[in-house]
Amino acid sequence: MDRILIRGGRPLNGTITISGAKNSALKLMAASLLSDAPLTLSRVPALADVRFLGQLLARLGVSVEDEGAGRLRLHARDLAEPEAPYELVRKMRASFNVLGPLIAREGRAKVSLPGGCAIGARPVNLHLMALEALGAEIELSEGYVIARAPRGLAGARIVFPMGSVGATEHAMLAAVLAKGETVLEHCAREPEIADLADCLNAMGARVSGAGTDTITIEGVDRLHEAEWTVAPDRVETGTYAIAAAAAGGRVRLDGAEPDHNHALWDVLRRAGAEITAGAGHVEIARSGPIRAVDIQTEPFPGFPTDLQAQFMALMTLADGASVIRETIFENRFMHAPELTRLGARIDVRGNEAIVRGPVRLKGAPVMATDLRASVSLVIAGLAAEGETSVSRIYHLDRGFERLEEKLAAGGADIERRPEESA
Ligand code: UD1
Repeated sequence: MDRILIRGGRPLNGTITISGAKNSALKLMAASLLSDAPLTLSRVPALADVRFLGQLLARLGVSVEDEGAGRLRLHARDLAEPEAPYELVRKMRASFNVLGPLIAREGRAKVSLPGGCAIGARPVNLHLMALEALGAEIELSEGYVIARAPRGLAGARIVFPMGSVGATEHAMLAAVLAKGETVLEHCAREPEIADLADCLNAMGARVSGAGTDTITIEGVDRLHEAEWTVAPDRVETGTYAIAAAAAGGRVRLDGAEPDHNHALWDVLRRAGAEITAGAGHVEIARSGPIRAVDIQTEPFPGFPTDLQAQFMALMTLADGASVIRETIFENRFMHAPELTRLGARIDVRGNEAIVRGPVRLKGAPVMATDLRASVSLVIAGLAAEGETSVSRIYHLDRGFERLEEKLAAGGADIERRPEESA
């Protein structure tokens, strides 16, 4: 297992290119199951999660061709047995999204209940509720969801009791081939949902309203061949922006979509960073002191939970105390004790963390615990004096493409080393 070594304490200066969004790419890949014609995706990030899902799709009978340079051609001409086993689904929660498309296309499926990041219980009750409303009969047995829709799926009105990104996407994927009209209410509004809807429409689906809280889907009989470019990763964009604010200096993020991160830009400006956004790029600079700002995670367009850990790393350096409240996931402060090893002063009480700054962070060995938490340790390491080594970086490889290369291009002293020789 590799480690990442960072010699911190130097400002970042340079340009970093943003990849396609992991959270979009995974749902777009699942959409390929709906069609017997090819779907070619561009700007697909080379990530462990994308590889896992590619393996699962291949097992389901999809021809998965990596054409290089981020192009992935997925062709589900004939599907194999619609069964997604535990070994493949447990690695990543988003694999569960194959369930809806399989029921829609094959009338039946058996999919393992998901695994994924250890950030709270993360149930799938809303996913199942939506699929049942569309006419699937669902049974849970020995860790598997066994679903049947012998007469096919039919459009329905579904009111989600709470906003869920995954359940909104899953319902949309299943409803595309259902008979008649589906109306989804109280939907999540994250940009990845609009990306999925736009791609489905490019494939011949009739989805409207994605990105608002009501989505309407007119079922169609068949989808056709399509090409789609994955939206830029707003979490990666936000992560490098926070890294630049923490380390100081000036960084340009190319290929980004600044409109997907307004909540972050607002908070970073209040924290003392300078943000200049243009079409397809954003520049972050900081030379003065960092100010303490309170945040609360919220569904889009609020401050994203996927940037909470990174922002906590920044706040350890701020002048004063900041309160960070996590409202989306329970148990999502696992990075706090690791940040403390670098000298941070953080008190966690329930879903609130109080971060008292400023401290002078000092490099130390730390361990990654989940995808976003681990990158907060990298950010702290960039700002810390001396050497920080982050172990268990398979978590990072799930969600950040060529992290060390990109940060090195941005001026960081960072490298990957095999664990044994580190
Ligand atoms: C997605 C993102 C993840 C991000 C999250 C919130 C992907 C692959 N992952 O996760 O990076 O942190 O959105 O922006 O896109 N819930 C239920 N029942 C359900 C489903 C969800 O109670 O059936 C709850 C969850 O426990 C959580 C909340 O709803 O408290 C929001 O979760 P959700 O939006 O579904 O997150 P994911 O789609 O899993």
